[in-house]
Amino acid sequence: MKPRLLVTREVFDETLHYLAQHCEVESNQQDVPLDPETLAQRLEDKVGVMCCLTDRIDEQLLTRCPRLKVVANIAVGYNNIDLDACTARGVMATNTPEVLTDTTADLAFALILATARRLTEGEAYIRAGQWSGWYLKQLLGVDVHHATLGIIGMGRIGRVIARRAQGFEMRVIYHNRVRLAADIEQALKATYVSKDELLEQADFVILQMPYMPQTHHLIGAAELKKMKSSAILINVTRGGIVDDAALVRALKDGTIRGAGLDTFEGEPQLNPEFLELKNVVLVPHIGSSTETTRRAMAMTAAKNAVAVLSGSVPPNFLNPEAGKN
Ligand code: DGY
Repeated sequence: MKPRLLVTREVFDETLHYLAQHCEVESNQQDVPLDPETLAQRLEDKVGVMCCLTDRIDEQLLTRCPRLKVVANIAVGYNNIDLDACTARGVMATNTPEVLTDTTADLAFALILATARRLTEGEAYIRAGQWSGWYLKQLLGVDVHHATLGIIGMGRIGRVIARRAQGFEMRVIYHNRVRLAADIEQALKATYVSKDELLEQADFVILQMPYMPQTHHLIGAAELKKMKSSAILINVTRGGIVDDAALVRALKDGTIRGAGLDTFEGEPQLNPEFLELKNVVLVPHIGSSTETTRRAMAMTAAKNAVAVLSGSVPPNFLNPEAGKN
């Protein structure tokens, strides 16, 4: 008998075809988000789950699903999974790095450009029928070219953003837990600075680190105050890294110029005050959302799940210690 696997949200046909060759698949192709109780009920008889950042895989769920061997997240971020609880139970967890790096870096730049050049404001103005003609001071923005880009978190995506910045002849400064090797810094034309120096000098501050207790509200009122009043904050990583209430205040009182946000605290709910502000560009967590990349993410997760269920080491193993339990 093939191993039983649950796919918690809609995926592409080719993903299901691939999975069906190896597993007995139950898939939520209606894409109705599963509440914790329904998820537990549907997982109780499964050995594998392919899940998304909208599914919470925690201690309580794992207790209900003792047969589970693999949790294959369709995302690079995995703050929806209690990794320690998985490891303690010998449940192998995987993610989907690499395949979304360039696509997410592209969205970061889209937000940089959209906020700097006031694209959504301009579009709303035209759609509202307010455009009566060209004038010199219309929708004045700020330049991206030759500006200083500050990247906090210089992992895969941060580095690709730094490479994109070279095309705009930007000065790149970065802060990271661990300083990069000199040859990598040189290739990226990126200068290491302290977090405070970065906040004080950057025209654009971009956050590119995972969400975890240590990064909760990494950017709050005090950090926003250190930024230039002309600066723009970009968040394409996870909600909760920015204190959204503090950000709303900073955008309202001119502490910073603007923000471009793909992720929000408590999403899909967001601070309603964002909706009233013109100096923020809001998009609904679409950093990795191109057809090619989302297909690649789903297939990567499927291959990780199948690897575990066929007794191999999955390519993107998050908790190798789990294999020892
Ligand atoms: C990820 O992979 O972590 C993204 O946020 C999902 O699009």
